[in-house]
Amino acid sequence: MELGVCYYPEHWPQETWEPDARRMKDIGLTWVRIGEFAWSVIEGEPGRYTWDWLDRAVDTLGAAGLRVVLCTPTATPPKWLVQSLPDMLPVGRDGKVRGFGSRRHYDFAHEGYRDASAAIAAAMAERFGRHEAVRAWQIDNEYGCHDTVRQAGPATRAAWPRWLVARYGSIDALNEAWWTTFWSQSYRRFEDIELPVGTVTDAAPGALLDYARFTSRLVVEYHQRQVDEIRPRSPGRSITHNDMAFFDDLDARALGETLDAITWDNYPLGMLEQSPLPERVKTRFARTGHPDLIAFNHDLYRGALAPKAGEPHVPFWVMEQQPGPVNWAPTNPLPATGAVRLWTHQAIAHGAEVVSYFRWRAAVGAQEHLHAGLLRHDGTPDQGLHEAEHAARDLAEAAAKGPHPRRRGQAALLLRYDDLWASAIEPHAAGWRPWAVWLEAYTALRTLGLDVDVVPPARDLSGYGLLVAPSLMLADEALAAALRAPLAAGATLVLGPRTGAYRSDMRVHERAPGPLADLTGTRTGRIDALRPGSVGAISLHSASARTLGDTELTYHTWADLLEPERGTEVWGRYATPAYADQVALTCRHHEGGGRCVTVGAWLDAPGWGRLLAGLAAEAGLQTLALPEGVRLSRSAGRPCLQNFTDVPVRVDLAPLGGQVVSVGPVDVAWVELPA
Ligand code: GAL
Repeated sequence: MELGVCYYPEHWPQETWEPDARRMKDIGLTWVRIGEFAWSVIEGEPGRYTWDWLDRAVDTLGAAGLRVVLCTPTATPPKWLVQSLPDMLPVGRDGKVRGFGSRRHYDFAHEGYRDASAAIAAAMAERFGRHEAVRAWQIDNEYGCHDTVRQAGPATRAAWPRWLVARYGSIDALNEAWWTTFWSQSYRRFEDIELPVGTVTDAAPGALLDYARFTSRLVVEYHQRQVDEIRPRSPGRSITHNDMAFFDDLDARALGETLDAITWDNYPLGMLEQSPLPERVKTRFARTGHPDLIAFNHDLYRGALAPKAGEPHVPFWVMEQQPGPVNWAPTNPLPATGAVRLWTHQAIAHGAEVVSYFRWRAAVGAQEHLHAGLLRHDGTPDQGLHEAEHAARDLAEAAAKGPHPRRRGQAALLLRYDDLWASAIEPHAAGWRPWAVWLEAYTALRTLGLDVDVVPPARDLSGYGLLVAPSLMLADEALAAALRAPLAAGATLVLGPRTGAYRSDMRVHERAPGPLADLTGTRTGRIDALRPGSVGAISLHSASARTLGDTELTYHTWADLLEPERGTEVWGRYATPAYADQVALTCRHHEGGGRCVTVGAWLDAPGWGRLLAGLAAEAGLQTLALPEGVRLSRSAGRPCLQNFTDVPVRVDLAPLGGQVVSVGPVDVAWVELPA
């Protein structure tokens, strides 16, 4: 539990570095991240490195007792490099070249640029890899920011057929997978296959899914080159990359396989403004952000690397923490007083080892000069600095009280990037959005006071009594095997709408949910895509009375009409006139005491809440009913109650064996609960 800051020594006169470093240390920061956009100052001319300033910066920070995260500056290739490799510029899916003058102006597949990136990474690692102050590396910065993963330039185009050969082996296998006889799309040779962009109407879903996989893979390949340069030159230092909230062009878990620590950039207000949450919610949380949007990303990224055996978590950080208003959302309000401290403690309670504020001092020029720092433009403290200092004092007090245990969640939310991709390729209902279906189930679990690990089904799932998979759209035998294990061990598995609709090549299963049918004990028949704003009801059947009580559930956007087999309990039927009495909710019991609950419709948040509350209770989990904006997190350290609302709240923790606790507006309270 430490705090840090992102710093740009190259922006400020050298005589300010030492007082800056001292001030960082004085307010309780211990980490400082530098260098991620500094290429042109390190290598102003091809091959001619200017190290003296960076030597001095690292020495100064180190001498003040700060540990340095040194970044490779490859998100910002300098002008001379672009001039020598003009075809390295990214080309958008619209076919337009995106030029120099901001950042991320490169094609991940470009061999010349890969070499140049590896060379600057090697040079930096050679120089600083064993420097005592340099304790970690960040490679590049926010892969995919500004829509740069899915490109269509010459290098990407050339790499595509090669990737397809490796995936399919034979052209017949590809034609079969993409079902190319439809609309005469058949290919004779891999080299004839173009990227599925710029087509007259939709390209084949299988081609689009492969394009998502391929472009995500290109990023990992690109990145691996730098890892390979740094590792041998910088023993014992951890390597990371900073991911973005709700970003699915890149499979963070595949990237994670190359990393020692996973980090993400937490901008709660910008995230809220860009989210699809209703206006009412945006207005209510405009100055604090929504706790579940933030926490979902903590839990997603904490779960992006597989922990070592016996460890509950992997090293997980917030690399950039919003310190005040940002400059890039449609509207950029001032955070509420207390919000920066609240975000810091929320991150730590979700397992973050380090929270690092972006940035130290507000820039006085260029694109981000309206973005806050911990210091204002004139170097005087901004509100964020006072709150960071307060958080540092809280952490020092907590550390004095003893160790900071880390724990697994009580529930697992199963999520894969392939399903997010499939979701985006074929929404089929205007309201069907990637992330949203997962987020609603997540909110329901968090409202119950449960800690959630967001993990892939291929992870070790033993020990979770409750597993919720809102939409595992692509189903194959491997998925069925992964889900069978927890069922055999007695867990409750909840599967949501569109489960098993597709094969992993995105052809539909002739009978959904394909290989998951023996788990669900039900098939999917007709499907109903609802118009935005329309809702339907599910009336519950007596078989579910014990679990769900005597209520109705409401749903929106999607309804799978289920066709249960003998031996499967029917728990709910649709009340919607167009398909009244068709089955909506089923439960299949498994040997070993596990049960698989299938809910064919996209339940609204209260609907998910009621279903999951009943199932959690039967799975032996103790739950609460927290109000909107109030959350409890126990993933690390002392259990922490957070109040994201502007009024004081009292929370009765008796159901968890605790007391009644009061929390002020935009504040946190640490609570005692039995282990
Ligand atoms: C992040 C980025 C930073 C800075 C920041 C502003 O996305 O990594 O470099 O641009 O946003 O909020």
